[in-house]
Amino acid sequence: MEKLMVEKSPPLKGKVRISGAKNSALPILAASLLGTEDIILEDVPELKDVRVMCEVLTSLGAKVEKLDKNTIKINSADVNNYETKYELMSKMRASFLVMGPLLARLGKTKNSLPGGCAIGTRPIDLHLKGFRALGAEIDVDHGNISAYSDKLIGEKVYLDFPSVGATENIMMAAVLAEGETTIDNSAMEPEIVDLANFLNKLGANVKGAGTSTIRIKGVEKLGGGTHRIIPDRIEAGTFMVAAAITGGDIIVENIITSHIKPVIAKLKESGCIVSINNDIVRVQGTKNPKPIDIKTLPYPGFPTDMQSQFMAYMSVIQGTSVCIETVFENRFMHVDELKRMGAEIKIDGRSAIIEGVERLSSATVKATDLRAGAALVLAGLISKGTTEIKDIYHIDRGYENIEEKFKNLGAKLYRA
Ligand code: UD1
Repeated sequence: MEKLMVEKSPPLKGKVRISGAKNSALPILAASLLGTEDIILEDVPELKDVRVMCEVLTSLGAKVEKLDKNTIKINSADVNNYETKYELMSKMRASFLVMGPLLARLGKTKNSLPGGCAIGTRPIDLHLKGFRALGAEIDVDHGNISAYSDKLIGEKVYLDFPSVGATENIMMAAVLAEGETTIDNSAMEPEIVDLANFLNKLGANVKGAGTSTIRIKGVEKLGGGTHRIIPDRIEAGTFMVAAAITGGDIIVENIITSHIKPVIAKLKESGCIVSINNDIVRVQGTKNPKPIDIKTLPYPGFPTDMQSQFMAYMSVIQGTSVCIETVFENRFMHVDELKRMGAEIKIDGRSAIIEGVERLSSATVKATDLRAGAALVLAGLISKGTTEIKDIYHIDRGYENIEEKFKNLGAKLYRA
């Protein structure tokens, strides 16, 4: 299995262009099952998760064609298979997002329980609650979930937690339902807005995405269209932290800055200089960063997907920093790995207390999930010696050309 070797590197300097967002591309690919004409998706990141989702679509009867590195053409006119294969579902949790579109399009769907990053139990009760509210019958047996409905009928759905996936799945199921569906306490992430914009281009009637109430008026059918995926705010945040942790100076291009306000705020609180110019952000690190506290929350709060990268940074900030994780109940698996590199971190329930150390030292560590892997790359850049990161398939699920992008900034890393 491939490993990533990260050597202590000089302060990172230069420009990096951010790719399209993985978390937008995946639901939008799933939503392409709803269209009956050609769909062109631009700035789709070339990632393992995207390849898996394209395989899922193909297995369901869609025609998926790569026009160039980041452009995909999809035609779902002949989609007729309602069952996803276990091998594909078990590779990635987001493959569960085909359930809403299949239910809407074919009136039935059968899937095995989803896989993906091992960050907590990650149930799907809210997705199912939404499908049931729209009139679907749900059967769970032998690890499979089936949903059936002759005709989905619009209804009011209240989410007990603003789940990103549940909001997306219910929205996709509701676009072809009869009448109006309301999703209250819906997730407000930018990726939800991107999905709604895409669905509307295809002919759907979705209003309120980006607020806590989304209204969907059902339409007869969806057509086709061209859509460009929004930039990946988490990839952007990761490179911004790379500037901070190495005391470097990085210009991050292709960012929607309003999407990363908490990341900008926390970097500034730590003493970095952050300058914004339209869709470009420059981050200049500081020699003596100040301790910071973060608490992860649904959008527009601090993103859980940036928690581990910030923890790598906090590990070398002199003083005490605190990190509270409220979105997932088991998202501290990177802590043991950072401790192997000399970090001083104590966990108390959902809080991590980080006592900054002067330096980290290299070790053999494991990427326990996608963002944890990114945190270890960041830690490796400032650790004496060569850090060996195992299980890097997690990193490849979510970061396009990670080595090349880091190398262009002066980082020393390679695969072995
Ligand atoms: C998405 C993102 C992931 C990010 C997460 C939170 C994608 C492909 N992935 O994941 O990168 O970390 O949002 O921002 O977009 N929950 C329930 N019941 C449900 C569904 C979720 O209790 O039916 C809980 C989960 O266990 C978790 C919390 O809600 O504690 C957040 O999960 P959710 O927002 O659904 O995350 P995902 O959509 O899986």
